[in-house]
Amino acid sequence: MKIAISGKGGVGKTTVAAALCRLFEEDGLLVYAVDADPDASLGLTLGLAEADLARSRPLVEMKELISERVGDGGGMFTLNPKVDDVIENFSLACGNIRLLRMGSVKKAATACYCPENSFLGAVVRALVLEKDAVVIMDMSAGIEHLTRGTAQGMDTMLIVSEPSPTSLKTARIAADLAGELGVSRVQFVGNKVRNEQDQQRLTDGVNGRFLGFLPYEDSLFGLPLINAGTDDPFWSAAREVYCKLTSEPQT
Ligand SMILES: Nc1ncnc2c1ncn2[C@@H]1O[C@H](COP(=O)(O)OP(=O)(O)OP(=O)(O)O)[C@@H](O)[C@H]1O
Ligand SMILES: [Mg+2]
Repeated sequence: MKIAISGKGGVGKTTVAAALCRLFEEDGLLVYAVDADPDASLGLTLGLAEADLARSRPLVEMKELISERVGDGGGMFTLNPKVDDVIENFSLACGNIRLLRMGSVKKAATACYCPENSFLGAVVRALVLEKDAVVIMDMSAGIEHLTRGTAQGMDTMLIVSEPSPTSLKTARIAADLAGELGVSRVQFVGNKVRNEQDQQRLTDGVNGRFLGFLPYEDSLFGLPLINAGTDDPFWSAAREVYCKLTSEPQT
């Protein structure tokens, strides 16, 4: 299964990505955690040490390799460059999780992320997964990355939304774009839900297509998700999402 996680800024994409990484890991799977956000935070949210993250090699540092294999001519990029070795050399291992990160933020007003996104997309597409492995890709905020096609080749798009009209609007647009990209399964996760009204707002916002609703929990705010937690409301709801995600047919 290759899952991309998308949604408006700040809605909890990285939190949901990290929670799913932990739950898949708990289930004994090998997890490729892909941080596609240039403003990387999946590693920290997974509880990896900043020093280790600083030592790991982001994909953007492979400049020659990126231009050699992807090309940068005229906005057209050759897809499917040979990238098998990248996973080995560029992932950071943490238990059964392998973190791959696209890399750091560019200087203001410099070129776009197209070659890097194309390369990252190709890396993920090239991953041939064993039955007991999964890719979880934490996307950058908003919808622009969807127009770059980074999520192409993913079989599932999980769109995270808060109970706000603006994040629901982004969620609907992201769902349409994911469909256009050929992602076969597009589903939603509600996050930061405080009461039934919030849940209803979410349900109304996308015609009820939610895998589940994660509650807002003060104790979670800003903290890494080091372990799959036990029975608190957040983890119970996250487990429900996980069960639906892994049990429903992937079409
Ligand atoms: N259910 C929740 N309860 C409490 N805090 C939460 C919850 N979900 C996320 N948060 C907090 O909200 C903040 C934003 O979450 P997160 O970084 O996951 O969002 P994001 O969508 O990935 O943001 P960005 O668009 O910047 O990448 C973090 O401090 C996180 O701990
Ligand atoms: Mg994030």
